Amino acid sequence: MRSDANIAGPMTDPVPGPRTESAGDGVSRETPPPMDDTPIGRAAQLAVEALGRAGEGLPRPDQTRVMVVANQKGGVGKTTSTVNLAASLALHGARVLVVDLDPQGNASTALGIDHHAEVPSIYDVLVDSRPLSEVVQPVPDIEGLFCAPATIDLAGAEIELVSLVARESRLQRAIQAYEQPLDYILIDCPPSLGLLTVNALVAGAEVLIPIQCEYYALEGLGQLLRNVDLVRGHLNPDLHVSTILLTMYDGRTRLASQVAEEVRTHFGKEVLRTSIPRSVRISEAPSYGQTVLTYDPGSSGSLSYLEAAREIALRGVGLHYEAQHARTGSQTSQQSVSEGIQ
Ligand SMILES: Nc1ncnc2c1ncn2[C@@H]1O[C@H](COP(=O)(O)OP(=O)(O)O)[C@@H](O)[C@H]1O
Ligand SMILES: [Mg+2]
Repeated sequence: MRSDANIAGPMTDPVPGPRTESAGDGVSRETPPPMDDTPIGRAAQLAVEALGRAGEGLPRPDQTRVMVVANQKGGVGKTTSTVNLAASLALHGARVLVVDLDPQGNASTALGIDHHAEVPSIYDVLVDSRPLSEVVQPVPDIEGLFCAPATIDLAGAEIELVSLVARESRLQRAIQAYEQPLDYILIDCPPSLGLLTVNALVAGAEVLIPIQCEYYALEGLGQLLRNVDLVRGHLNPDLHVSTILLTMYDGRTRLASQVAEEVRTHFGKEVLRTSIPRSVRISEAPSYGQTVLTYDPGSSGSLSYLEAAREIALRGVGLHYEAQHARTGSQTSQQSVSEGIQ
């Protein structure tokens, strides 16, 4: 089924497996499941089936949806959301590419992708015009998921790009020239609004903003939104904020529900109904080079990312999402807990 013969990359050894009970082997499916015989990928696939959703066949977009995961604040869940949503979409049967645009390379690490200094990376694509196909690697254990890794070289790209022609649209060109069929490209941005993030905003039509449910959640977002407006006005007329994802939601705290309320008041329908709970499993997974989908497929973090991915897929084709579980907690307080969008 796979036609990615030109995508070369190392298959790393499987890392410690999930602890979740499996749902048995005889589960019927209507959509072709990822053909993944690795134990980890298989366990994750069973978790998708356990949700009772795999057989529904999530709609695939007509065209590749390029989603820019951005928020110039660090630590809000950009990388975590990028890799786990990408893995979820792939487990739902889509073909997905993660572009790691953060010199820290956290997305590459979390996907188990080698990204030491010698590895062909997104730096080579942006600065040396190397074809994207030469740097993309398949993600171990998850069929249909690929990654263009970032190495530490990328830290210099912000400066090196300044003097290059078409410095804002180099990623866009590379993506346009990439011939492998893809349903989604998720771009993990660094925590800044420099040229790397601008390249992402020019390359994609959709912006996905993860917002951490904490005090000052909306602080600084105004600057991101103004940049989105600027890029839309000058470089990419299709660009829009399509998706807001609430992350690290702790339903036991009043603060989290107040922040969620605040965000929903500001953004309305862009906010996904599924929010991502604060979960130890989510934060542990990257140190095993895994997403939470394979690290602990049955955990609340895993299931919430699968749900969020499902919501994103349905929205992409204009369908309504029916929440299976109320995950967003009570949102009754009108009290303002953030400084508002500044
Ligand atoms: N839902 C969550 N529950 C618990 N920890 C989380 C969750 N989401 C992210 N984290 C942790 O928070 C930290 C910051 O997340 P990360 O995705 O790296 O943010 P960013 O990419 O925006 O800087 C990481 O240590 C990550 O493991
Ligand atoms: Mg990050």
